[in-house]
Amino acid sequence: MITTQKLTGDLADDGWKGASDDCNMENLKNSESCDPSSFLRHFRKSSATPVMLLRHIAQAMATEMQEGLDHPGERKLKMLPTYLECLPTGNERGLFYAIDLGGTNFRVLRVQLDGKEGRILKQESIQVPIPQEVMTGSSKDLFGFLAKTIVQFVSREADLGFECVALNQKRDIGFTFSFPVNQTKVNGGSINAWTKGFSISDGVNDTVGTLAQCRYWNDDAMVGVILGTGSNACYVERAAAISCWSSPPEADDLTVVNIEWGNFCSELLPRTFADEGLDADSLNPGQQEFEKMIGGMYLGEILRRVLLKMAEDTGLFGSEIPERLTKPFSLLTPHMSTMHGDDTSSLEVVGSVIEEAIGVKYTTLATRKVVYDVCDIIAERGARLSAAGIVGILTKINRCGDLMLSCLTTPNDTEVKKTVIAIDGSLYEKYPKFRNYMEDAMKEMLGEDYANNVTTTLSKDGSGVGAALLAAAISTELRLGDVGVTK
Ligand code: BGC
Repeated sequence: MITTQKLTGDLADDGWKGASDDCNMENLKNSESCDPSSFLRHFRKSSATPVMLLRHIAQAMATEMQEGLDHPGERKLKMLPTYLECLPTGNERGLFYAIDLGGTNFRVLRVQLDGKEGRILKQESIQVPIPQEVMTGSSKDLFGFLAKTIVQFVSREADLGFECVALNQKRDIGFTFSFPVNQTKVNGGSINAWTKGFSISDGVNDTVGTLAQCRYWNDDAMVGVILGTGSNACYVERAAAISCWSSPPEADDLTVVNIEWGNFCSELLPRTFADEGLDADSLNPGQQEFEKMIGGMYLGEILRRVLLKMAEDTGLFGSEIPERLTKPFSLLTPHMSTMHGDDTSSLEVVGSVIEEAIGVKYTTLATRKVVYDVCDIIAERGARLSAAGIVGILTKINRCGDLMLSCLTTPNDTEVKKTVIAIDGSLYEKYPKFRNYMEDAMKEMLGEDYANNVTTTLSKDGSGVGAALLAAAISTELRLGDVGVTK
C-alpha cells in the first residue's frame, strides 16, 4: 500500500532547506562577494543533495509512481504498461533480430541463441547515423529510412554463417524505441512525445531491453535504468496493478512498467538558475525536469551555463566573455567527464579542454580548479539524484529495507530479497566518477547492510541484444503456450 505524506514539515526539520536561503544566485550579481570562490560556494549549496533530501525525493518518486498507475496518462509519471507477459529466461533458442532507435544512430542486430548451455552463440550488428533531415522530417521519411537499412542487413544473414532461415519465413524482431510510447499491446502503441532533440511530425523501450538483457542471466533483475543521453527506468510490477489492462494474465502475474522517470518533477529537486535557463530554452519547456538534471544530453550544457555566468559575474576567464561559451551546447558531457577525470596536479587536461572547447588559451591553475569543481558539483548532483530515483523504485516494490522514512511498505511485506538493478548508458559505463557517486549515494540511503542486497550492474547493450532476447522470449512463450514473467 502506498501512502502520500506531507513532506514540508519534515524537510524543515531536516535542516537542509534553509541552506539555500542565502544563496540566491541572482543576489550574487551585485554583491561584493562576487568572486569565483564565493560563487562556487553558493552554487555548491544550491546543488546540495544531503541524504535526507535524497530520501524524500525517493519517497516522492515512489508516491508519484503509484499516482501514475492509479491515474493512467494523467500524471507526470506516465507509468506506461508494456503488456509484457514474459521476460527472457535463458532457455530461448533460434535466430532473432532487434532494431534499436534511440538517439542519433540506428542499429540492427541479430543473435543466435542456444538455450542455457550455449546462451548467445553468435551476434552481429550494424549502426548507421540518422541524417539530420530525417530526424526532423516526417515519420514516413524516418520509418522508410529504417526499413531500407533493415532489408539490407537481413538479406546478408546466410552469408555470415547464421542459422539459415528460409527467405519467406517470418523473423521475430524486437524493436527498441527509446521514446515514451503509449503501448496498447506488447507489439503496438503510439508515441507519446519526442525527446532528446527529435522533432518528428508523427516496440520496446530501451529501459525494458536493458532489464530483459539482465534478466536473461539473472532472475533477481527487477529494475532497468538508462543513464545515457536521456534517462529513464522500468521495473517489474504486478500485472493486476495495471488498471488499463482489461484482461491481465493472472492477478499475481508480473509484467514490466516503463516509468518514463525523466518527466519526474518535484519542488524537492535542487534546481538552480542553470536548470531554469536550460529548461526555458529547450524544445520541451516544463517537461523532463528530472532528465534535464541527470541526462548526458544536458550535463555539459548546465556546465556551460554556470561557467558563462561565472565569466560574466566574476570574470572567471578575464575581462572578456569567451565567445564560444555563449553558444548553447558548445560544452558537452564528454568534455565535462574528461575534465572531471583529470588527475594531474596542474589540471592540464582541464586546461586543454577549456582551450579546445571554449577557446581560452591561457588559464591559471586557480581557474582550472574552479572549472573542475563545477564539473564535480554538477556530476555529483546528477548521480545522487539518479540514485534517489532508483531507491524510489525500490521503495515502490518493497525492496529498500526499513530504512526509508516513509510508511510506503506494508509491514509484513518486507522480506529481504536480492535485487539486481540493470543499468545501461554512457554516464554509468564511461563516467567513473558519476557511477561512484551514484553507488555511494545508494549505500548512504539504504544503509551499508541493506545495500548488500542490492546490486547495480552494467547491462551492456540492453537496448540492442535485450530487444532480441525479448522477441525470443515472447516467441518461445507463445510457442509453448505458457505466459507469465517468472517470479
Ligand atoms: C526517453 C525515454 C528513454 C530515455 C533513455 C528519454 O529521453 O523519454 O523513453 O528511455 O530517454 O534513452
